[in-house]
Amino acid sequence: MCGIVGYIGNKQACEIILKGLKRLEYRGYDSAGVALLNGDLRVYKKQGKVLDLEESLEGKNIEGTIGMGHTRWATHGEPNDKNAHPHQSPTGDLSVIHNGIIENYATLKEGLLQRGHTFKSDTDTEVLIHLIEDIMKNANLSLQDAVRAALGQVVGAYAIVILSKNHPEHVIAARKGSPLVVGIGKERGEFFLASDATPIVEYTNQVIYIKDGEIAIIENKELTIKTIDNVIQTPYIQELEMNLEQLEKGGYPHFMLKEIYEQPKSIFDSFRGRIDAKSGNINMRSVRDYQEKLSKVNRLILIGCGTSWHAGLVAEYLFEDLARVPVEVEYASEFRYRNPVIYPDDLIVSISQSGETADTLAAMELAKQKGATVFGVCNVVGSSIPRLSHGGAYTHAGPEIGVASTKAFTAQVTVLTLYALAMAKQRETLSSSRIKQLMKEMEAIPGKVEQALKLNDKIYKIAELYKDAKNFLYLGRGYNFPVALEGALKLKEISYIHAEGYPAAEMKHGPIALIDEEMPVVVIATNNEHYEKLVSNIQEVKARKGKVIAIVTEGNTGLNELADHIIEVPETENCLSPILNTIPLQLLSYHIAVMRECNVDQPRNLAKSVTVE
Ligand code: AGP
Repeated sequence: MCGIVGYIGNKQACEIILKGLKRLEYRGYDSAGVALLNGDLRVYKKQGKVLDLEESLEGKNIEGTIGMGHTRWATHGEPNDKNAHPHQSPTGDLSVIHNGIIENYATLKEGLLQRGHTFKSDTDTEVLIHLIEDIMKNANLSLQDAVRAALGQVVGAYAIVILSKNHPEHVIAARKGSPLVVGIGKERGEFFLASDATPIVEYTNQVIYIKDGEIAIIENKELTIKTIDNVIQTPYIQELEMNLEQLEKGGYPHFMLKEIYEQPKSIFDSFRGRIDAKSGNINMRSVRDYQEKLSKVNRLILIGCGTSWHAGLVAEYLFEDLARVPVEVEYASEFRYRNPVIYPDDLIVSISQSGETADTLAAMELAKQKGATVFGVCNVVGSSIPRLSHGGAYTHAGPEIGVASTKAFTAQVTVLTLYALAMAKQRETLSSSRIKQLMKEMEAIPGKVEQALKLNDKIYKIAELYKDAKNFLYLGRGYNFPVALEGALKLKEISYIHAEGYPAAEMKHGPIALIDEEMPVVVIATNNEHYEKLVSNIQEVKARKGKVIAIVTEGNTGLNELADHIIEVPETENCLSPILNTIPLQLLSYHIAVMRECNVDQPRNLAKSVTVE
């Protein structure tokens, strides 16, 4: 939610900032702005995409080697020029960009209004920069002290960067609850600031992840990190794992399509070096370090949001089926607000692509407060969720830029499958030969995904037939019920077609009323113990003239007469089938969205990383 970029060094800042904002646009894209410091402090902002901002800068003075920029996902105040960041203090001497929400902004604003302040925007952020200047003036504090004092009054979440006309060569940034990373440039005194490392990777691989409650001060070419209480911290410099190529579209028209096609590799990367099908061993640090805990766990609670929650639902089947461990799957946003009962022998697993989802982080914090052991299954290396976890595993899917999650989902399911196998081994709920067999099949999955991707042309033709549908229904059973939910979510978010995912047997308890000749119904009917039941469900749809798109196992001709369209995926183990069966659903939603001329990578109202509650 909102992307921030800052630069200080010898290069022209504006170009670096605009490029960085484009990389961060997945975080929000309703307006954008820059502030440049070059003797004076110039602020330019514009409703719309970063490209609109860039065009609006034509002919303007964009000189300056210090600057910052912002791409917004609106929370307080509608998306327009005046609410776009950066925001300025009353004198115009200070400017701020902000990601997060200042929850007590109304109270702070009231106090400032009483002291004669007037505001230009409807945002919480403008209140903060007014407050800082107000404190500087009335308490006669330095900029740094005033920033600390103001942040001490703030309730909520923030990552901020501040520039001051009267402090050239000086940048202040701070973090609480919203991500912020500092890149150390190759030249002395060159630093980058950003919401994540994607704008930085082009220039340096040395980064410092700022922690909650820390302030980064760049002054006289030096970086100092302090706590909000003014205690100097020793920065921990990390090396970035990502490279620039991963952040480009690489010839694909959209990041989403590139990421769909990357899945043979991303799935492989998520189990590479972690399983040995010959010995049946699992080589994962968290499995080693928490061996005793894992063997004694009485219950798993899996938490996440959106697609990550769907991965948790698949894992519920995996853990219960393979390792015989009871599982609860919770929306992080519900879990955190309902005083959940947590026992010491529970294990909480937080699932997240970004590692920054505010609700998931808050749910983890609650679980930790209640004494639980918390694991993270996360894609973004160095993000907040792995840092807050006791243990866990990265999914290693590589950067996912498309707002609609694709390769992150299949990688999450893969890693969760590894945990289920590890627990099955420890608890001896599966024989060693069965574990080896499943591992062998896991090794075959990337190749089978490759085959499933060859269905693209067929799926394109089906998409052409249904691109104007008003509604879609997705049905699945068992392991593939969450796949139905995920298929429906993908279609909703990028094509704006209303879609529902249901356990197939539930259809007759309500959704069947929706079925008529206008309703496409996607049924995941691959070979498993539910197959015959699914055939009956398909009969029920056809009896009401619904249009059936059936995902079946290669070679199955049983539905040829009944279904309107058949999509054949390679055969696999039922417990691994969600990974494969998701692929055609991703392609279907992608093609429908493109045909409807929707912005696939940046769907309306969404942001990749939901860092507000
Ligand atoms: C997926 O396509 C969505 N954009 C969204 O539901 C996402 O999965 C959710 O916001 C959770 O994000 P996270 O995995 O980064 O925590």
